[in-house]
Order: sequence, then structure tokens, then C-alpha cells
Amino acid sequence: MQIGIVGAGSVGSALAKRWAAAGHRILLSYSRDPLKLGSVAHSAGPQAQVGSPREAVAFGEVVVLAVPWGAVDDALTQMGSLAGKLLCSTVNALKPDFSGLEIGTTTSAAEWIAERAVGATVVEALPLNAEILHAPSPLFGEVTPSMFYCGDAAEAKAVVAGLMAEAGMEPVDAGALVRARLVEPAGLLVAQLGYGLGVGPNVALKVLRR
Ligand SMILES: NC(=O)c1ccc[n+]([C@@H]2O[C@H](COP(=O)([O-])OP(=O)(O)OC[C@H]3O[C@@H](n4cnc5c(N)ncnc54)[C@H](OP(=O)(O)O)[C@@H]3O)[C@@H](O)[C@H]2O)c1
Repeated sequence: MQIGIVGAGSVGSALAKRWAAAGHRILLSYSRDPLKLGSVAHSAGPQAQVGSPREAVAFGEVVVLAVPWGAVDDALTQMGSLAGKLLCSTVNALKPDFSGLEIGTTTSAAEWIAERAVGATVVEALPLNAEILHAPSPLFGEVTPSMFYCGDAAEAKAVVAGLMAEAGMEPVDAGALVRARLVEPAGLLVAQLGYGLGVGPNVALKVLRR
């Protein structure tokens, strides 16, 4: 599959590496430092190339938005039309100091993005813990960490779930996109727990069933 990634930070670079290793073709975009973009793509291997956000949209059968909340508006502007695209958002509306969410519980970053990404099908995937995806294995012992995905289109959700499983997470269907109002605070909780415990983002959720 061809995947366009907008944002080459912790999340974008981790997904690029894992998906390239799984055989997908990646176009990475959106850094203020073109050299960094090139070196991130290089470390993902020959399956990865760099381009502009607009090129990532044109390239991607799936387009991943992995930028900080404060950069979403600019990134969407640079991406151009998303009509007909599957947009996977990993965005959480975190305050820069992780102390809370800029928006949440009565709406969500995913819904905000879906309103602006006219014509796109938006699926959210969170909490997608970049640190554990950068590790040689994302497993905690023998346990695969869970992440939630939510959206309003079954087919698009299945594609995102498949990709997240390939990246090393257990995707858990959290329901419609409106559930992002719960998923995003869960992401904040994981981040705060990690930093509170002094292990940084190296902590994850596991959904148990019986
Ligand atoms: N990290 C995680 O474990 C994690 C987990 C769950 C959710 N998330 C969410 O996923 C999204 C991406 O997180 P991340 O940790 O990958 O972020 P990050 O490491 O800060 O990466 C942000 C990317 O956006 C680029 N960018 C371009 N213009 C920017 C601007 N004006 N301001 C800020 N960044 C700009 C950065 O490029 P340069 O810095 O190279 O210029 C970088 O490639 C966020 O919404 C975050 O809340 C992250």
C-alpha cells in the first residue's frame, strides 16, 4: 500500500519505519528542516521517500496526519484537498506541557479535523505510543499493547486497523468518530501516567476481554 505521512516526528517516523519494514511504500512530509525529513526517510529504508504535504496526499491510499495540535491548521492548509481520501489522524489536542487538552469531551481533535478535511473519511488511531514503536519490539513481555481506533466508515476503519496491527499494536474498535471524545483523554492519561511514573511515553494500555 502507498502511505502518505504528514509529520515526521516521533509518531510519523515510527510508523514510517514499521510500515516500510512491512513492505509498504511511504512518502514522508512536513518538517521545518528538510535535512531531518531526508534522514528520517533514509532510516526507514528504500521504501520511503520525501515530499510536500500535498504530494503525501496525492501519493497516499492512506494519508496519516501526525502533527502537534498547534500545527494542524497549517498542515491541513498545506495538504490541500482531501476529497475522497482516507485520513488517519493520530492527533491529540494536547497542551504543549501535556497538562490537559486544548479541546475535548464535548468535541474532539478528530471531529475538528473531520470538519475541515472536507470529503475525507477520517479514522482516529490513539493512543499510538511512538516510543514503543521505536523500540526493537513493541511488546511488553509477551503482551501486545492496545490502541483505539474510531471512525464512521467500516471499510476505512478496517484498513487503519490492519495497518496499526502491522505496526505492532492491537487495534481495538472504539466505535464511531464521536468516541474520539473519550479516546483522546485516554491518550492524555497514558502520557501523564508515563511522565508521572518517570518512564516517559514508555507505558501503554491493554484491553482485556473474557
Ligand atoms: N508521541 C507520541 O507517542 C504520541 C502518542 C499519541 C498521540 N500523539 C499525537 O500525534 C501527533 C504527533 O506527535 P509527535 O509526538 O509525532 O510530534 P512531534 O514529534 O513533535 O512531530 C511533529 C512533526 O510535525 C512537524 N512540524 C512541521 N511544522 C511544525 C510546526 N509549525 N510546529 C510543530 N511541528 C511542526 C515537525 O517537524 P520538525 O520538528 O522537524 O520541524 C515534526 O515532523 C500529536 O498530535 C500528538 O499529540 C503522539
